[in-house]
Order: sequence, then structure tokens, then C-alpha cells
Amino acid sequence: MDQETFAAVDEFIGRTLVEHDQALQETLDDAEVAGLPQIQVSPPQGKLLQMLARLQGARTVLEFGTLGGYSAILLARALPPGGRLITLEANAEYAAVARASIERAGLGGVVDLRVGPALETLPDLAEEGAGPFDLTFIDADKVNTPDYFAWALDHSRSGSLIVADNVVRGGSLAEAASDDLATQAQRRLHETLADEPRVTATTIQTVGSKGYDGFTIALVR
Ligand code: SAH
Ligand code: DHB
Ligand code: MG
Repeated sequence: MDQETFAAVDEFIGRTLVEHDQALQETLDDAEVAGLPQIQVSPPQGKLLQMLARLQGARTVLEFGTLGGYSAILLARALPPGGRLITLEANAEYAAVARASIERAGLGGVVDLRVGPALETLPDLAEEGAGPFDLTFIDADKVNTPDYFAWALDHSRSGSLIVADNVVRGGSLAEAASDDLATQAQRRLHETLADEPRVTATTIQTVGSKGYDGFTIALVR
């Protein structure tokens, strides 16, 4: 088994099971043309997020890390009429690309994109009384995942889901001595979850077009 196989299988799953349309294609194309990193969720993972949002009956979603808007569009499409997604992006150039794609997808009235480092824009959300969020997707700067998780948990309700991407990191999650700060943050996240009576959680390892990684899903009790 190798990366070529993982990518080919993701491509097959995407082609058979994952809806794709012009708005999504233009979202990916514009991000690429604008030079954004190609690190959006894979189509199969995006489909899972969409299905989780639907299973949840989510009306309010919070996303950390918009990039070009791909996952935001998928999640926003899973919302019922009147639903709302708030997405946080630190990079103003990425945010401008995302905003245009979200508008073109017809979701300008559903998606509320906030520009700035999330730890600086979260206090505004708190002040506005945003939430509780039915689903939170954490996919921004990985060193801050534990802080984003703590904030999301404080702005959740019983039954909310919190999903954190990129926690396995090529397997370094299991390395206690790792000197990678992003890895240490994911280890800390797991240790916090173990001691947190308000949630029950698991982590699923994945292979695919983006290599070997994984995501955590936490259910708020
Ligand atoms: N969720 C997106 C991918 C996000 S990639 C998708 O699947 O389509 C990670 C994003 O987090 C990048 O766009 C990066 O600019 C953003 N980011 C990095 N640090 C951040 C911070 N402190 N606050 C908010 N966003 C941040
Ligand atoms: C990176 C970020 C992601 O959200 C991801 O899924 C893969 C890679 C990155 O910052 O390199
Ligand atoms: Mg990610």
C-alpha cells in the first residue's frame, strides 16, 4: 500500500459517492489560481462532514479555518432554511477568495465569514451571544486546536458535535517525545478529552489523497 493507492481510492470514492458541481469546481479552481495551499478536506471527508451536519439536524455551525471556502460550502449546504454557518479565517487574501466562491455558490446569506486570527474574533462572537453551535469543525492553525476546542465546548449544547481535523499527523500523535508543537497540541487535546466529563470522543485514523492523518469527533453529553 502506498500514497498512490490511497489517492486512487479517494478519487474513486469521490467519483462514485460524492456530489460535485460547478460551484465546487470553481471554488477549487479559484483557490488554486490564487495560490492558496491545496489542503481543503478531501471530497470523501467533506461528504462525511455534510452527513454529520445532517444527522445532527444542525442549524448553527462554527468553522475554524475557511481557506478557499470548500468545506464551508459543503457544510452550509447541509443546513436547513434559516441555518447559519460562521467561519473564521486569519488570512484576508484567502478570505476574499472564499467570500467570492461562497457568494457564487448562492450561500452569501448563510455563511458569515469573519476575518482575523480566531482567538481575536472569538470574543466578538461571545459578545454577540453566538451559538450554541450544533456542530463545530476545527481546521485552522493546529497548535491552537485545544483552545478552539475549549471555546467550542463552552458554546455547545447537549448533543453538539465537535470535529477536529489533522490530529494524527502522520502517526506522530503516538510520539510522546515529538518536538512538533502541532503534534503536542493534538496529544494535549486527547489528554484534555480524557479528563473532560462534558464530552465523549474518539479519533479515527485516515489515509487518502492527503496522506496519513485523522480526525477527532467529540459528542457533548
Ligand atoms: N477548512 C478548509 C481548510 C482550512 S486550511 C477546507 O477544508 O476547505 C487551514 C486554514 O486555517 C487556512 O486557510 C489558514 O489561513 C487558516 N488559519 C491559520 N491560522 C488561523 C487562525 N489563527 N485563525 C483562523 N484561521 C487560521
Ligand atoms: C494543513 C492544514 C490542514 O487543515 C490539512 O487538512 C492539511 C494540512 C497544513 O496546514 O499543512
Ligand atoms: Mg484540515
